[in-house]
Amino acid sequence: MRLKRTLLSTCVAGAVLGSGTVALWAQSTQPSAGNAAPKTTEQVYKNIQILKGVLADQLIPAMQFITASLGVQCDFCHLENAFEKDDKETKQTARKMMRMMFAINKDNFDGHREVTCYACHRGAHKPVITPIISEDGGQFVAEEKMPREGPDTASLPTADQILGTYLQSVGGTAAAARISTRIQKGTLTVGSEHFPVEVLAQAPAKRVTTVRFPGGDSVTGINGEEGWLTTPGHAADDMSPSERDAARMDAELFFPASLTLIFKELRVERPSRIDDREVYVLAGTRENVPPVELFFDQQSGLLVRVLRFEETPLGRNPTEIDYADYREEGGVKTPFRWTVSRPNGRFTIQIDRMQQNVPIGEDKFAKPAPVAQSDSQRGPG
Ligand code: HEC
Ligand code: HEC
Repeated sequence: MRLKRTLLSTCVAGAVLGSGTVALWAQSTQPSAGNAAPKTTEQVYKNIQILKGVLADQLIPAMQFITASLGVQCDFCHLENAFEKDDKETKQTARKMMRMMFAINKDNFDGHREVTCYACHRGAHKPVITPIISEDGGQFVAEEKMPREGPDTASLPTADQILGTYLQSVGGTAAAARISTRIQKGTLTVGSEHFPVEVLAQAPAKRVTTVRFPGGDSVTGINGEEGWLTTPGHAADDMSPSERDAARMDAELFFPASLTLIFKELRVERPSRIDDREVYVLAGTRENVPPVELFFDQQSGLLVRVLRFEETPLGRNPTEIDYADYREEGGVKTPFRWTVSRPNGRFTIQIDRMQQNVPIGEDKFAKPAPVAQSDSQRGPG
């Protein structure tokens, strides 16, 4: 097993995690080829005392959950290139906090994970423990919880009706089903920086997104079963199961006709608002993964937001994708702009040119062959 520290300026799920400006300091594991049995954290890492028995793939997501919850970076608790060392007191404290969190939930909430790092920390390394007086002197009110199923959902359209309206709004099931490939070119914006981006997609679940950073291309690919990420100067890294799942869903959602195939069940939740628009909310469920929330504009019928969660041993990492600038081409309306938001940052892709149903060679959707790995080489970040 090789550990590779890398400045991931990378796409995940047709979607860039960060460029130089929102670089994610992460460490990824090189999966040992051909070995099917999934490994646990203590088999892969050197100094695991609390998060034992958890799948190794979930360790970095758990670390991302911590950084987002405390509003810090990895170096708040870790020395560079020596994640296993316990030199920083904050890391020791974090272990105590994990024990405390598990105990609180076990002793008070029947083992349900109701209290997480974020429940207390709210993005600060020292939680606020005194009520805040707001600017206008009024009471500080925490934001509303996520919409939940309630008794008032009975009067709402059914999931089938909401989906039917959506498919009708994009141009009808038949037209949507006729779109087999898409080639899109546009611009990715992170903060005030812009980079060219190209998306190749084939229904139902193939998609390769290439972002041209000054130091080289960053590619996110999914071809049904395989998912990979490449960063400038590095060989392709296999996606973790949760990254692959998210990437496959993004690829499928790209073709409206696939939507009904993705979820085992779609449940109507309480309607919500996005800015000044009323939206219907559907929760899509599948086995063993957190539900995905789909938001449909009540006026236009179109899908305007997807909110999904990555499970970690400590809490869920959210990703929100907002779809906008729907344009009709080939009888089907397609979003020309989408914004991907995570606790550590956001970026927007704006498409300006699109071709549909142009044949795309199979080789374009093939995972790049491994090249000689050079761990010293790094992207310019
Ligand atoms: C608030 C403190 C904190 C932050 C921030 C944090 N970690 Fe950790 N990290 C820990 C603790 C505690 C452990 C040990 C967990 C255990 O003993 O079960 C750990 C373990 C690890 C390990 C396993 C090392 C080994 O070989 O034993 C890696 C790798 C790691 N963290 C990476 C990261 C990355 C990458 C980030 C930033 C995304 C990060 N951590 C942010 C506290 C933190
Ligand atoms: C029940 C509330 C609560 C939960 C849950 C909680 N913390 Fe804390 N945490 C605190 C409080 C309060 C402090 C500050 C103590 C102090 O000021 O000395 C703190 C302090 C810390 C510190 C030290 C910060 C510093 O600046 O030195 C770290 C690191 C930390 N928590 C990590 C975590 C992690 C990681 C989790 C989730 C596994 C977590 N906490 C969950 C309440 C909580």
